Amino acid sequence: MLKGKHIILGITGSIAAYKSAVLCRLLVGAGAEVKVVMTPLAKQFITPLTMATLSKNPILVDFFNPENGEWNSHVKLGLWADCYLIAPATANTLAKMATGVADNLLLTTYLSARCPVAVAPAMDLDMYAHTATQRNLERLREDGVHIIAPAAGELASGLVGNGRMAEPQDIVAAVAELLAEKKKPTLTGKHFLVTAGATIEPIDPVRYISNHSSGKMGYAVAEELAERGAQVTLISGRTALTTPKGVERVDVLSAEEMYQACVERFEQTDGAVMCAAVADYTPQSVASEKIKKGEGDMAIALKRTRDIAAELGQRKGNRILVGFAMETQNEQANAEDKLRRKNFDFIVLNSLRVEGAGFRGDTNVVSLIDATGRKDLPLMSKREVAEHIVDKIEESL
Ligand code: CTP
Repeated sequence: MLKGKHIILGITGSIAAYKSAVLCRLLVGAGAEVKVVMTPLAKQFITPLTMATLSKNPILVDFFNPENGEWNSHVKLGLWADCYLIAPATANTLAKMATGVADNLLLTTYLSARCPVAVAPAMDLDMYAHTATQRNLERLREDGVHIIAPAAGELASGLVGNGRMAEPQDIVAAVAELLAEKKKPTLTGKHFLVTAGATIEPIDPVRYISNHSSGKMGYAVAEELAERGAQVTLISGRTALTTPKGVERVDVLSAEEMYQACVERFEQTDGAVMCAAVADYTPQSVASEKIKKGEGDMAIALKRTRDIAAELGQRKGNRILVGFAMETQNEQANAEDKLRRKNFDFIVLNSLRVEGAGFRGDTNVVSLIDATGRKDLPLMSKREVAEHIVDKIEESL
């Protein structure tokens, strides 16, 4: 359940922080990627070196790196995460969270996070039982924070009672359950084709023409469709990503292979989302042996590839077809032109001019354009962009 999930582990200044090491190991062991944020006081209880080693990522404590001034962006961190787990959470941190105080990186990250948040309180029994703490916990619950209840037992003070942080394995189980919450199966019975990744156009047995597409956007769309109950066939060019759960993946290399794979299957579907970065040109001929270098320069003759989206646009009928456009100039006019030319129901415009958008990263800034107008979305994770795209597909169905 935690495989591939992005988890921020927040550690505050409590003696229970020693258990955060075990917690971190369990999360990493379950396949999660963990980034640790600590309050300055937490460093007194467990060393950043321990947590950096276990999480395999540098520890974040300050708003910026005092050595080089580099900003630790709580906004990016908040967008990156699938879950923000604060364990241990002290009475002080819970109080600040409940009132929106933002005086350290752990708290600013809390205010920026759009993912589910879980806290595992740890404190002495009287602090835990105090009306103020209980009031803060109640308010956090109302704010949607998931409280992983402390257990009863011997406390650091020697007193026995409620306030001991839940055991690491119980915290991991609670996080897994939180992330497993099912989406409504609104697309059951529907079948979609999604193209993703970069195509590879061979020049000779060792060289090829390709592009920087990571496939993340297309994989996020495939995952979102599958989570809503759709049958998904992902026609994938080159990527380093793992296949999302419940998705049938068909690997292809060249634009021509992707064309064949899509055309063969489109008729049986309810629509397609064309996220792949397909090469527009391919070598006129592929050398059967490795091309040896000569003295002078060389040129490779290229021919146009077939436009998969345009072909599906011709065959569309009442299926839904969604396209992408990546533009650096005349964005609106170029995107509208593609919308019409390829017969898309709507097009997702990616501006390469905006920071946080485009290739490789985990975030994107896009606009959704259809015949009736344009909706600009703010900077968000590719997963969230996928949710907006699938919401619009549902509206169009
Ligand atoms: N597309 C496709 N087959 C191709 C080329 C593009 O299916 N051979 C799809 C892409 O997946 C995307 C949309 O068409 O959904 C992009 O259209 P395209 O005209 O290639 O736009 P750009 O990639 O932005 O390139 P250009 O500006 O050069 O037209």
